[in-house]
Amino acid sequence: MLFTNTHTVFAFAALNSIASALPSGRPHYGAGKTGKAVYAITNSANNAVVAIPIMADGTLGNGTLTATMGEGAVSVNAMGESVPTDALISQSAVTVAGHHIFAVNAGSNTVSMLAISPKNPTQLTMVGEPAAIDGTFPNTVTASIKNSMVCVATSGSNAGVSCGSFNKKDGIGAMKKISNFDLNQSDPPAGPANTVSHTFFSADESMLFTTVKGVPMTNNTGFLSAVKVNMAANGDCEPMVGKETRSSPEGTTLLFGSANIQSANSTMIFSTDAAFGAAVLSVDNTGKAQTVGRGEVPDAVALCWATISSETGSAWTADVGVNRLLEMSLTTAEVVNDPIDLTQGASAMNPGLIDLRAAGNFVYALAPGNGTSQPAISVVDVVQRKLVQNAELGALGVRNSAMGMAVLM
Ligand SMILES: *[C@@H]1O[C@H](CO)[C@@H](O)[C@H](O)[C@H]1NC(C)=O
Ligand SMILES: *[C@@H]1O[C@H](CO)[C@@H](O)[C@H](O)[C@H]1NC(C)=O
Ligand SMILES: *[C@@H]1O[C@H](CO)[C@@H](O)[C@H](O)[C@H]1NC(C)=O
Ligand SMILES: *[C@@H]1O[C@H](CO)[C@@H](O)[C@H](O)[C@H]1NC(C)=O
Ligand SMILES: *[C@@H]1O[C@H](CO)[C@@H](O)[C@H](O)[C@H]1NC(C)=O
Repeated sequence: MLFTNTHTVFAFAALNSIASALPSGRPHYGAGKTGKAVYAITNSANNAVVAIPIMADGTLGNGTLTATMGEGAVSVNAMGESVPTDALISQSAVTVAGHHIFAVNAGSNTVSMLAISPKNPTQLTMVGEPAAIDGTFPNTVTASIKNSMVCVATSGSNAGVSCGSFNKKDGIGAMKKISNFDLNQSDPPAGPANTVSHTFFSADESMLFTTVKGVPMTNNTGFLSAVKVNMAANGDCEPMVGKETRSSPEGTTLLFGSANIQSANSTMIFSTDAAFGAAVLSVDNTGKAQTVGRGEVPDAVALCWATISSETGSAWTADVGVNRLLEMSLTTAEVVNDPIDLTQGASAMNPGLIDLRAAGNFVYALAPGNGTSQPAISVVDVVQRKLVQNAELGALGVRNSAMGMAVLM
């Protein structure tokens, strides 16, 4: 066994002391507020952002589609066959920063910026043109208000991370390559192993993290890439980045969707790992990550997406092959409580769930379907531990290639 009891006890002790250092003794993420809208992308040939309002009771209303002026794309499996469900093999194909949305166009190697109307969160307008990326198959995006910076990771034959500045008038500036990943991939990439998973800023927005999956059964364990970032003070809007640090935290192989754990003075990440379950990683100020908690989920099929709910003080994870949400510990990464089973009632036809976000008492999880079953967003009250709505997306023109989940608070 890689992980002994001593290890777990250490993780508990370290995190308990962090929690008690916080004013309320518990992290604050959204302070119980209900969100205003959720966003995903269709990732179809004519890619579009799906925008759906959140009603006062947390359920979803009628949505809209707005073109991103770019193209979607679909990854392939080891046999070279298209895999439209979880087409981008990623978390965060779309992200919200302030009143702007950023969405990847994996088929046209661009990223689009859209403005959200202050009066109507489903009314979106393109800002500038989609920005070209020095990379192929962009599949995950993040944006930082603090740095006015958008970063996109690519997972095709030209894989890596590119960042650029943005402003509300001109949109996204020139995207500059900040890291190269030598994955030896094809276009589109063959996954799910050996692909980029998720790019995201640290909670204080001072570091950019990107998870990259390895290849099980070989010594390729995958890695977490970490780069210190800030916009140049000289106003030339070129992202300033430090040296990249890569680490393969002990016992991890296929790091996938992640979420920042709010902690007083250390950088902690909750990260799923499709090889076994999830891990809690501690990142030092050089960007090197260490495993401090590791939770195995023996009956997982592809447990790959994560969000953290402030209301439950825990992580919620989704599996594309199992129709349930799992609640996991922010200290040990182990499953806590029974799963929220979604195989009955309105969500019964969903084969599984992909990208998800917590907002208020709810988790919004994309159930893309398998091409036969209708795509939907499962709205789960994670405090009451029950499904409150399975909002079907088929009538909007959404298919199983849909990706991403972002929330406007
Ligand atoms: C959504 O649209 C349908 C059909 O136009 C309408 O009956 C329904 O009231 C709308 N729902 C909301 C929440 O606006
Ligand atoms: C890169 O991929 C090609 C095509 O799959 C393969 O033939 C080649 O051996 C790979 N190179 C390395 C260094 O893995
Ligand atoms: C993995 O690494 C170990 C130790 O370095 C080595 O003995 C083994 O041959 C490697 N396995 C593969 C499949 O490369
Ligand atoms: C947090 O900071 C305090 C004071 O500098 C230090 O004693 C403590 O070890 C830190 N905790 C962690 C988890 O780094
Ligand atoms: C898709 O999912 C539905 C509902 O779970 C199932 O009945 C159907 O057999 C699935 N189709 C394929 C092609 O897997």
